[in-house]
Amino acid sequence: MDEVKLNESKPTKIVPSEKLQLFTEHWSPKIVGDFNDSQIQVVKIQGEFVWHHHEDDELFIVVKGHLTIQFRDKNLEAEPGEMILIPRLVEHCPKTDEEVWIILMDKKGAVNTGNVQDDDKTATEYARI
Ligand code: NI
Repeated sequence: MDEVKLNESKPTKIVPSEKLQLFTEHWSPKIVGDFNDSQIQVVKIQGEFVWHHHEDDELFIVVKGHLTIQFRDKNLEAEPGEMILIPRLVEHCPKTDEEVWIILMDKKGAVNTGNVQDDDKTATEYARI
């Protein structure tokens, strides 16, 4: 599979809120840029995800709505402009009441459900928009 590079070597302005208006589905991350060995994604989420962990760190930045990320020992909450950093191997499960718009940073090739395979939530396709 050929990997398409969005950024190439040109400076690129990305407007997450505009990218997030290009699709409606939930839990389906779209890649909007490459950042060293990570990929920058946008995703719309609503409801409860699945408990999982990743082999690498993960960063959630809230664009719109109120995000809760559940951890085994506590919950963390974030509003637009706030972010939650999840260290590698730490189990977590995002949860929202309303639709929440997110910027996500993950290691390239990372799967949204990490160590867990879920028929409903595991993203099988990562479109670039
Ligand atoms: Ni995760």
